[in-house]
Amino acid sequence: MNDRSATSYTHGHHESVLRSHRVRTAENSASYLLPHLKPGMTVLDVGCGPARITVDLAARVAPGWVTAVELTDDALSLGRAEARRRNVPNVSFVSSDVHALDFPDDTFDVVHAHQVLQHVADPVRALREMRRVCAPGGVVAARDADYGGFIWFPRLPALDLWLRLYDRAARANGGEPDAGRRLLSWAIAAGFDDITPTGSMWCFATAETRDWWGGMWAERILQSALSRQLVDSGMATMVELKEISAAWQAWAAAPDGWLAMPHGEILCRA
Ligand SMILES: C[S@@+](CC[C@H](N)C(=O)[O-])C[C@H]1O[C@@H](n2cnc3c(N)ncnc32)[C@H](O)[C@@H]1O
Repeated sequence: MNDRSATSYTHGHHESVLRSHRVRTAENSASYLLPHLKPGMTVLDVGCGPARITVDLAARVAPGWVTAVELTDDALSLGRAEARRRNVPNVSFVSSDVHALDFPDDTFDVVHAHQVLQHVADPVRALREMRRVCAPGGVVAARDADYGGFIWFPRLPALDLWLRLYDRAARANGGEPDAGRRLLSWAIAAGFDDITPTGSMWCFATAETRDWWGGMWAERILQSALSRQLVDSGMATMVELKEISAAWQAWAAAPDGWLAMPHGEILCRA
């Protein structure tokens, strides 16, 4: 791997981060892909994290097979635990980097990445690699949030600071937090000529979803890899992070609190 592909994952895998990944399902995170899945297909899920989506995909393509990829063994152990918990046998976990996937050409019917390309150093190279391991006529699918497009109410100043700090930290790690709007251009640059671009939104506005999102970020901004990075690099003080944490709690408690996250999606024919 050369330097261009080296990056670090901004959020890390603290419990408060995993809580946000564990509500994900194939239905709420990959609905644009689902009509293209059929029993018997082989799927590669890149950057599977705790593998909630991965295991859903495995259940849909059984008796086909899902291979899930993560950078480290620690991250893979989360996925393995999820597959055991749900008793889904047709999934295996392999460590590999999306910039240099350890699979032969034309191996999979579907190659999928959810919320991954925003974190990698070279998303165009990553998409080329995803295409290389996808069989001709197969599908490369990616979905990413676009942080610059997040909107919320009430407009608490500490939450504006949260977004500015997140943007700085993600870019310092070599990522692109406004990935959603760029997926189509990355796919074109990667050489795809049959691309279906779409968008979709997550919205948190009920007492239950506000409590989950606001409570998760109230903890995450104080305890995750992101908070350590912000303080250690001098981008923020612990006092500011505590203000942001309190603002997330205030937002979650506001009966009119509302937040929307836009996502870009691409379905590319290999
Ligand atoms: C935001 S998480 C998404 C996890 C999962 N896809 C989901 O949506 O629940 C991004 C994941 O991508 C992994 N990742 C980051 N860079 C990667 C790379 N170069 N190759 C493979 N995985 C990577 C991270 O370790 C992290 O678990």
